[in-house]
Amino acid sequence: MNPRLLLINASLAGPRGNSAVVLERIARSLASRATLDTLVLAERSEPADWERAVRGADGFVFATGTYWDNWSSHLQQFLERLTSLEATDLWLGKPAAVLVSMHSVGGKEVVSRLQGILNTLGLQLPPLTGWAYSAASHFALDDSESDDSESEAAAPADDPIRDGIRADLWRIDDLEIVAHNLLQATIGGRDWRAWSVDRTAFGHRWIEPTRRD
Ligand SMILES: Cc1cc2nc3c(=O)[nH]c(=O)nc-3n(C[C@H](O)[C@H](O)[C@H](O)COP(=O)(O)O)c2cc1C
Repeated sequence: MNPRLLLINASLAGPRGNSAVVLERIARSLASRATLDTLVLAERSEPADWERAVRGADGFVFATGTYWDNWSSHLQQFLERLTSLEATDLWLGKPAAVLVSMHSVGGKEVVSRLQGILNTLGLQLPPLTGWAYSAASHFALDDSESDDSESEAAAPADDPIRDGIRADLWRIDDLEIVAHNLLQATIGGRDWRAWSVDRTAFGHRWIEPTRRD
């Protein structure tokens, strides 16, 4: 039988936000191998409804924006109101993925801190299931991947430092890796997959020094 995954939309904007789009994208990779339920925290519901949804799930995807360097107040309330269930079989050993969007900064810290809390609640953190995606990356990748001649002219044709660092940026397609690893953990598999990382340029200077003529 397919595992049951609960997609928790913690966005301040509820179903109209970026988190809803992110969840819709990962749902595409999960749908053929899992039964999916969605909980939108911005919509009125009671802790008893949350508890029922959590109890029925084999694994979780949490999605939130970054709001003043933090997750949403909805998610904070969710965590606070379910505190009495800490380390119970409601959570114990169930895997969770964390998906955070932001304009520019703070999202990775939100991922790391939230993962720490989820692990303390009793959840399992599979490899490469924390994802932080910024509007800065979104538009930079869009620009450099378009075949628009103006942006090609602006970017040097062959720049290994730039290419290496670009490989390191989280992208929307990485949600397939998150989905795969989350499913592996949910079914007790070990066939982990990895996204692209920078193995060449990580120690290189990428800011040009000011020229003194
Ligand atoms: C109140 C508020 C505070 C925000 N604070 C930050 C921030 O600290 N850092 C950042 O990079 N983006 C910040 N943003 C931008 C959001 O993180 C970004 O648009 C995110 O994708 C929102 O997700 P959502 O559409 O699901 O709500 C903020 C947005 C709002 C509405």
